[in-house]
Amino acid sequence: MKVFVGQPLVEPSTTDLLEAHRVVTGGGNLPRAEWPLLADADALLPTPRERITAEVLAASPGVRIIASHSVGVDHVDLAACRARGILVTNTPDVLTDATADLTWALILAVARRIREGEALARSGAWDGWKPQELLGISLAGRTLGIYGMGRIGRAVARRGEAFGMKTLSFDKGGTEAEFREFLSKVDVLSIHAPLTEETRGRFGEKELLRMKEGAILVNTARGPIVDEEALVAALRSKHLSGAGLDVYQLEPKIHRGLIALPNVALLPHLGSATFETRLAMARLACEEIARFSRGEPPLHPVP
Ligand code: DGY
Repeated sequence: MKVFVGQPLVEPSTTDLLEAHRVVTGGGNLPRAEWPLLADADALLPTPRERITAEVLAASPGVRIIASHSVGVDHVDLAACRARGILVTNTPDVLTDATADLTWALILAVARRIREGEALARSGAWDGWKPQELLGISLAGRTLGIYGMGRIGRAVARRGEAFGMKTLSFDKGGTEAEFREFLSKVDVLSIHAPLTEETRGRFGEKELLRMKEGAILVNTARGPIVDEEALVAALRSKHLSGAGLDVYQLEPKIHRGLIALPNVALLPHLGSATFETRLAMARLACEEIARFSRGEPPLHPVP
């Protein structure tokens, strides 16, 4: 089989699991200039950066499997794949702990004002310990709100217990009234839902203003779940005390208002970025293609 891989992966993955196949690796983002490489491909292995649209599928007439190097599959046109009978797989489980750890790095960074403290420490302007300097908020006894109680949401909640936090969750199927109540009760809101038509723009001006004054918002799921213009306004007005973001509405562009704000921690989509995790993700995606070529059932088919 010819396998098109969106961008270079952590190895050994393609080099051993796909050694029986012809692997062609793109440079990332799948620009039109790379589309001719898809013409005779049997399998695609995209990362979240390569959008597999209906147009891309039309340029890949022989593709029978798309093994995404991600748990989220919002970058793949699933309806178009279904219509063509293309199998889509993803990489859940292996990234749960890494993403939950990074979520906590952001929660702590914002609650304890790490970014501002680090800037002060490096500036040369710090002249000594002060009782009122860069006061953050204590987490013990506060409420952690998990929006999307899947594998990662549950792993974040488990870590929250160790910090002495109470957990509230909101998952699909909840009513609007329950959602409003959830928003009004949480001190730290952490988003872990997939990006779907229901979750796109779910946190707009109205929802952010329903949150407690001084609450923190953290998003390590998908950027378009939060309206960034509304988030910037809620942070500027100090209705929210801070935000920690790993993902962006127009990724990789980051709203200038967010960049300018002091108590906003920004990371470049690093949720799963540990060596062990990225290797496991790469190997799982390659394994799906190898299994498909042997006629074996997929490990993680996306419905
Ligand atoms: C995913 O897997 O969906 C993440 O966003 C990238 O690790």
